Amino acid sequence: MHVIVDGAKRQLHRDIVDNPSLHGRVLNLYLNGEAYPHWVSDYFPIAHVEAPELAAKMRQHIADENKHIALYKAAIEKMGQPIIEDLPHSFIFNSVVRHYTPVSWAIYDNHDADSKRLKLAHFLAHAHCLEKRVARSLDYHLEACEQRAHSPYIAKAVGAVLADEYRHIAYTVEAIHDLLPTTSAQALLRIHQLAERRGNLDFSASQLKRLLQENRADWPSSHRYFYRFCSLAMRTLLFFD
Ligand SMILES: [Fe+2]
Ligand SMILES: [Fe+2]
Repeated sequence: MHVIVDGAKRQLHRDIVDNPSLHGRVLNLYLNGEAYPHWVSDYFPIAHVEAPELAAKMRQHIADENKHIALYKAAIEKMGQPIIEDLPHSFIFNSVVRHYTPVSWAIYDNHDADSKRLKLAHFLAHAHCLEKRVARSLDYHLEACEQRAHSPYIAKAVGAVLADEYRHIAYTVEAIHDLLPTTSAQALLRIHQLAERRGNLDFSASQLKRLLQENRADWPSSHRYFYRFCSLAMRTLLFFD
């Protein structure tokens, strides 16, 4: 089963990269995910972080995500495609994952130190699980860009983003284990893993369906029905999850 899914994802990213209009739309999906922290008030609660080392890593994380915004914009422009910065939140992976997340990590001044630590851990777990999925997606995307993108800049930009995402994945999980005892950290991570898995099925099923409908002519006609089946299969898996 893994081999089939792996092959399908590989082909999907190749088909996307082969068509500049489709590729531009997918890079805009990644771009809006990078910009999402600017549209909400509860990402990166650095003012409530006690450890200076963790605060410094989170500041670097914000700077990296801002750099990613610039890299995606430059890549989209290089392809001659429009930059779309205001996609509805239902098209943004972060927002869809939150829809399946049963906890809030918003920190207020009147929260005590334990609540602040727990909520900070929830934010870091959300970021960790989300970035892990984005990195898996970018792995496939980078391979397709290296083989087929019309400008080498695109693979360079995607590769630079991916290297940072691996660093974010590593420090966020370390920080959760520094903040909480092991059993609590594992229980907390499970909440966000489940939310991310459901969010991913929902996001992937709907965005694939949308792109198949709106960019019908941009897909190889021999693959269209297979991708429609993939979208339906993800929707069915979500139903039974
Ligand atoms: Fe990023
Ligand atoms: Fe990241």
